[in-house]
Amino acid sequence: MHPISIAIDGPAGAGKSTMARAVAKDLGYVYVDTGAIYRTVGYYIQMCGIGPRDVDGVTRLIDEVNVELQYPEDGLQHMILNGRDVTDEIRSPEMSEYASKLSTLAVVRDFLLDVQRDLARKHNVVMDGRDIGTVVLPKADVKIYLTASAEVRARRRLAEFRAKGQKSDFETVLRDIRQRDERDMNREIAPLKCAKDAVRLDTSELTIEQSVAAMKEIIEKRLNRC
Ligand code: DC
Repeated sequence: MHPISIAIDGPAGAGKSTMARAVAKDLGYVYVDTGAIYRTVGYYIQMCGIGPRDVDGVTRLIDEVNVELQYPEDGLQHMILNGRDVTDEIRSPEMSEYASKLSTLAVVRDFLLDVQRDLARKHNVVMDGRDIGTVVLPKADVKIYLTASAEVRARRRLAEFRAKGQKSDFETVLRDIRQRDERDMNREIAPLKCAKDAVRLDTSELTIEQSVAAMKEIIEKRLNRC
């Protein structure tokens, strides 16, 4: 039996992490947040003073990056960058922008492809990102494209920022989300799109509980068919 993989793709703020984490916990699978891996690589390169579009600079530095994923008791995926826990630092709006720009580079995507595939070779996974069902795990057992309107996603993000005590306003968050959608969906390599064999789930009108229930139903149906 090969390990089972569930691929969840979708735009920023669609609720992928919340839902993927809940589903993974339920199934006893490893949850892999691939956006956090891009952010961690970005964090290192940014700290070295290199811009996200500087191909030569990024190529020079990328082999210095060692990313580890750890899963302690708190249920969160901890990101360890060259031995240091950077789980909180990578969550700023600046790192969202930086990671989105950096992820357009082939050198970065190639570097991370093996890291992601290796995890899916070793464990049953629920993996979320932008290109999991299309590029990273094209043979995933279940593929879900999770989405919601830009306005709903911006409202959810704003609530998250406020809960963490970070200041922002709706217009700024909406603008950032639209810019990120534009870049993630239109980049040349591995753009965000719904895989042909993915089930599309729009959560604009659903609560978190309803979305998780809908996702579980899709997964159960697909896994029972395998
Ligand atoms: O999911 P996130 O918002 O933490 O991801 C940050 C950025 O990383 C996102 O804007 C695009 C990039 N990314 C990617 O290109 N491919 C993935 N599989 C995951 C994230």
